Formats: sequence, structure tokens, C-alpha cells
Amino acid sequence: MSSNTTLTVDNKAVELAVKEGAIGPSVIDISKLYAQTGMFTYDPGFTSTASCESKITYIDGDKGVLLYRGYPIDQLAEHGDFLETCYLLLYGELPTAAQKADFDYRVTRHTMVHDQMNRFFTGFRRDAHPMAIMVACVGALSAFYHDSTDISDPQQRMIASMRMIAKMPTLAAMAYKYSIGQPFVYPQNDLDYTSNFLRMCFAVPCEDYKVNPVLARALDRIFILHADHEQNASTSTVRLAGSSGANPFACIAAGIACLWGPAHGGANEAALKMLEEIGTPDRIPEFIARAKDKNDPFRLMGFGHRVYKNYDPRARIMQKTTHEVLSELGIKDDPLLDVAMELEQIALKDEYFIEKKLYPNIDFYSGITLKAMGFPTSMFTVLFALARTVGWIAQWSEMIEDPSQRIGRPRQLYTGPAERDYVTVAQRG
Ligand code: ACO
Repeated sequence: MSSNTTLTVDNKAVELAVKEGAIGPSVIDISKLYAQTGMFTYDPGFTSTASCESKITYIDGDKGVLLYRGYPIDQLAEHGDFLETCYLLLYGELPTAAQKADFDYRVTRHTMVHDQMNRFFTGFRRDAHPMAIMVACVGALSAFYHDSTDISDPQQRMIASMRMIAKMPTLAAMAYKYSIGQPFVYPQNDLDYTSNFLRMCFAVPCEDYKVNPVLARALDRIFILHADHEQNASTSTVRLAGSSGANPFACIAAGIACLWGPAHGGANEAALKMLEEIGTPDRIPEFIARAKDKNDPFRLMGFGHRVYKNYDPRARIMQKTTHEVLSELGIKDDPLLDVAMELEQIALKDEYFIEKKLYPNIDFYSGITLKAMGFPTSMFTVLFALARTVGWIAQWSEMIEDPSQRIGRPRQLYTGPAERDYVTVAQRG
């Protein structure tokens, strides 16, 4: 459904179409505004701008709702598994048993990486950040799989998508193994997706490794929580990169680079570091005061969100998962969890955080959980990238399949010098 609204610019009335979504705010279509008025709109940070139409993920930030293809995140996390979520995001519906078995089989068949990729790794220093390795290796996949880079061919797009979902755990585990000087562990395809990943990370050739099913289920749920989040910075990066016709491996590499930033996917690493820095609950007031101090750049990491102005629904599930993992591992008293829970309680009652609607986001508890599972902090964002790959691919595919898709090309408000003549060095004062 659509209606119209009128905007008056320089005493001239301009008719603009208002488009309604299935749920959520309507949008004013300004695509013809420049042609009609000679003016651009100005919205740095895109706080009021819908960059595309999408059928994949819906967020109601005020109510704290997150839906993948209409299904609430808590139901998917409780009852589903990650590969089923991948199928849902990619194809729009939950799979039947036969579709699921076929999808799992197809993903599993692509888990190995080209053996030449091993040499690629040895070019990195051992202390390289695994996100740096991921950006490089995922981008490099386009140099290995020439048969799936033609984006105009739906079959090639599908194979590229499968390859990335399947190979991300293998590459992520290799990045980890390389950093600790252990040999790479090949995928074992009779294991489920997440158990296979845990084994590739933590098994060594000289010992048997048994996957702990509670930890595998918890990590699988963490992957579900991170699978997609509509037009966030990294997804928008993937869409923008893809809009030029770049190959899918290059686009996902761009998404990984964007995710690395501490305001985005890097926040789980930053949140854990902050909890470690706080150390004991008695130091919390000092850090709360710093977060509130306008002259101090410090922020409570894992707090606040551009869209959620209520409790992040993923943070609730994450908190429950943290307790399950710690209890399975017999960790009765984790000082970091004590600090986190106390910090959350204090912040939620503090006028500053209430007024600005700052609630814990998914990253607040994920670091504690991943650390307890044995992952070093540098791997946290890598795990996020692994899970978000399916969301990036689903969004990229949706864009490529949209017949109205054009290259993304934002405009600007120019505030630099007006035209002026070149002056030779000798003439410059
Ligand atoms: N601690 C203290 N104050 C905060 C915090 C915080 N974590 N987050 C926002 N604020 C304050 C800001 O100082 C600002 O105050 P002001 O209006 O007085 O200037 C106000 O709240 C609004 O903040 P903005 O930065 O304008 O909000 P924005 O929507 O641009 O940023 C963001 C959202 C980046 C997530 C921010 O809340 C933040 O930096 N949080 C910490 C990092 C973090 O946890 N990131 C993870 C995001 S979730 C994800 O990517 C999976």
C-alpha cells in the first residue's frame, strides 16, 4: 500500500510517495527529490534513512523484538539449530526434514578449503589478529573459486553462498590454530556444523577429542543470535560493495573488515576487556561515573544500541546461555560474571542510562561465555563473523535478485573550498 505526502521546498509543494512495510515505520520515497527540488537529504549515520527494501529481518527497537523471516529470535534459539536458521534466512521458509537434510549435506560437502590455502596462512605473523587473517582469506577465496564468481548466474551465486557458510568455520579454526602454533585440524563431516567447528578449534592430533554437546548447543545458539540483524554497518557494507557487481567473496571480506570495529562486532572483545579492567564490583561506580562524564571518551562497552532502545532480545538469551555454559564447566564463581551482573543492575537503575535508553546488548555477556568455552578474546569477533556470514549472503542475494538494484552512490553536503586557481610553489606565500 502507498499514499502520498507533501513537502514544501522554497514555497514549492513536492508530492512524495509514502510506502508502507509489512510492519514497522513507513518510508517516504525521496528517490526523485533531487530531480524535483535540486536538493539532497542529509542524514549522516543513516538514523532516518531506509537504504533498501528487505524481507529478511525485522527489528522493533522500542519493544526489543527481533524476527528472522517473521520468526521471533527466542523461538529460533530455543527450538532451532544454526543451519536451519541459515536455510530460513536464505530461502525465506523453515526447511522440511528432507530440505534440511539436503541443505546440511550440501554445506558439509564444502567444508574443506583448497590445500593451497594452508600456504596462504604461513605468510602471516603468528601474532596477527585473526580478523586480519579472516579479511584476507575470505577475500582470497575469490582467487580459488573462479567457477562461482559470476554473480549473474544463480547457480554460481548459490555455490558461492554454500562455500562461504561451509568454509568460514574451517578458516576461523585455522586462524586460531595458526595463532597458537598448533597444526590445522581438518573438518570431520559426520559432525554437525558447530560440533565440527569446536573440534577444528580444540582437537589436537595426539589426543581423542569428544565434543561437549552442551557447549556445542550453546555455541550453535550464539551463532543463531548473530546470524542477521538487518541493515547494520557490516551488512550495509556488503550491500554497497555488492552493488558494484563485486564478487561475493570480496563483498563478504568487506563485511568482515567493517565488523571488526569496536563500535560493531569488536564490542564483545572490548566488553570483556572492560570487565577485566573493572575487576571487582567495588570499582563499578568509578567506571559508571567515567561513562557518564562528557569529557571522558570511555563508554560502557556492551551497552547501548543504535536501534534497540529497550533490552536487546538477544542479550536475554545470551545471559541464559552464559549461565548454562558456566554451570556445565563447573565454574561456580566467575568474577567477571559477578562484575557484569552487578554492573548491569547498577546501570539499569541509573538515571543517565534510563534517560538515554541504554541497555545491555548481545555483546555484554557473549565474551564471558566464549572465554569460558576456551576461546581467546581475539577470536570473539571472528565467531561473530562466522555466524553473520549467512545474514550477509542472504542480504547480498536479495539485493542481486532485485531487478531495481543499482550501484549504491550516496551524495554529500560539500563544505570545502569553492573553485580556485592553482598557484605555483614559487608564488605561494
Ligand atoms: N556508555 C555511555 N554512554 C553511552 C553509551 C555507552 N555504552 N552508548 C551511548 N551513550 C550515550 C552517548 O554518549 C550519547 O550521549 P549524548 O546524547 O549525551 O551525546 C547517547 O548515549 C547516544 O549515543 P550515540 O553514540 O549517539 O548512539 P549511537 O546510536 O550512534 O551508538 C553504539 C550506538 C555505537 C552501539 C553506542 O551505544 C556505543 O558506542 N556502545 C558501546 C559499544 C557497543 O557495545 N557496541 C555494540 C553494538 S551491538 C553490535 O554491534 C552487535
